[in-house]
Amino acid sequence: MDINTENLKAEMVAEINQAADIKALEELRVAILGKKGKITEMMKTLGSLPQEEKIALGKNLNILKTEVEKALNAQKSALETKELNARLASETIDVTLPVRPEQQGRLHPISQIYEEVVAIFGQMGFEVAEGPDIEDQFHNFNALNMPANHPARQMQDTFYIPNPDSTDFDDSFVVRTHTSPVQIRTMEKNKLPIRVVAPGRTYRSDYDATHTPMFHQIEGLVIDTDTTMAHLKGCLYDFIKAFFEVDEIPVRYRPSFFPFTEPSAEMDIGCLKTKNELKVGAGTDWLEVLGCGMVHPNVLRAGGIDPDKYQGFAFGLGLDRLAMLKYGIPDLRTFFESDVRWLKHYGFVPLDMASMTGGLSNNGGAAR
Ligand code: PHE
Repeated sequence: MDINTENLKAEMVAEINQAADIKALEELRVAILGKKGKITEMMKTLGSLPQEEKIALGKNLNILKTEVEKALNAQKSALETKELNARLASETIDVTLPVRPEQQGRLHPISQIYEEVVAIFGQMGFEVAEGPDIEDQFHNFNALNMPANHPARQMQDTFYIPNPDSTDFDDSFVVRTHTSPVQIRTMEKNKLPIRVVAPGRTYRSDYDATHTPMFHQIEGLVIDTDTTMAHLKGCLYDFIKAFFEVDEIPVRYRPSFFPFTEPSAEMDIGCLKTKNELKVGAGTDWLEVLGCGMVHPNVLRAGGIDPDKYQGFAFGLGLDRLAMLKYGIPDLRTFFESDVRWLKHYGFVPLDMASMTGGLSNNGGAAR
């Protein structure tokens, strides 16, 4: 018998390499190596061959068998990989979330500034205090060292609200002209020492690009046995740096007058004013940002606190003004026009809350 195992090997390996899938390959394996397979059948003929041929062909058939097994295994793992890849491709699941629709609502810059300012003072240990928008004249004026007919009352263009129980003008109510009445309301609660900020709405009869009849202030009040003007300056300097998110900012204090503080001062911050721009934090110009001073003894007395034992400082600043400065919003009146396009432009994404650790305004609004 003349069997060329080299040719057989070439044929078989070629066939094996062409097997299209595992099933076809398995059929091939049976056809070659199975009980009735080609090689098995050839092996069976060995017994009838003369000794020399038997040895020679036996050896060649074994080599052929090994080669064929190798080829079968190689093709098997190639086909398995191919089938796995095909299955992975056909069973792919998109585990990524669909993109959420953009949030429609926006935080108003005032709300954002409110959160920022409260976050900063909160970090310093201040609590938030509140008072009513509709005040009596005692809290808005008298207790703040502004008795009836005091000329300082003319400093503020007050909206009065008639008192239904009295025709006496002194009994009429006001919508608070500043947040300072919250100083008195906090003192009246009689818990010392005091360290509060009171943000809220305030009202004056005024209307132009930087004034609206309703606006926002934040009041600060610290009262303790040894609170000094140095504490006031340090506190406000730290605040203004944190607020504008800068490491340094030039500040100066100018002597000023408020009936409820003595001495009184106004704080200015360094800025650069050009024709079209106002840059905060550097430059040769100054911008007034807040009023402050040491609480007047008469005010402490009106709040039921002994001025011989306690002293403290107070400050008040306009939140709207701060928002305009920080976020470059030129006209205050636009704040209250309820224009959603304006809000979309200047507003803030609601879930990114201002915090001292997470960042005050990193999410952005106008700064975005
Ligand atoms: N209430 C003052 C104002 O509205 C600001 C102020 C508050 C000044 C506290 C000094 C101390 O202008």
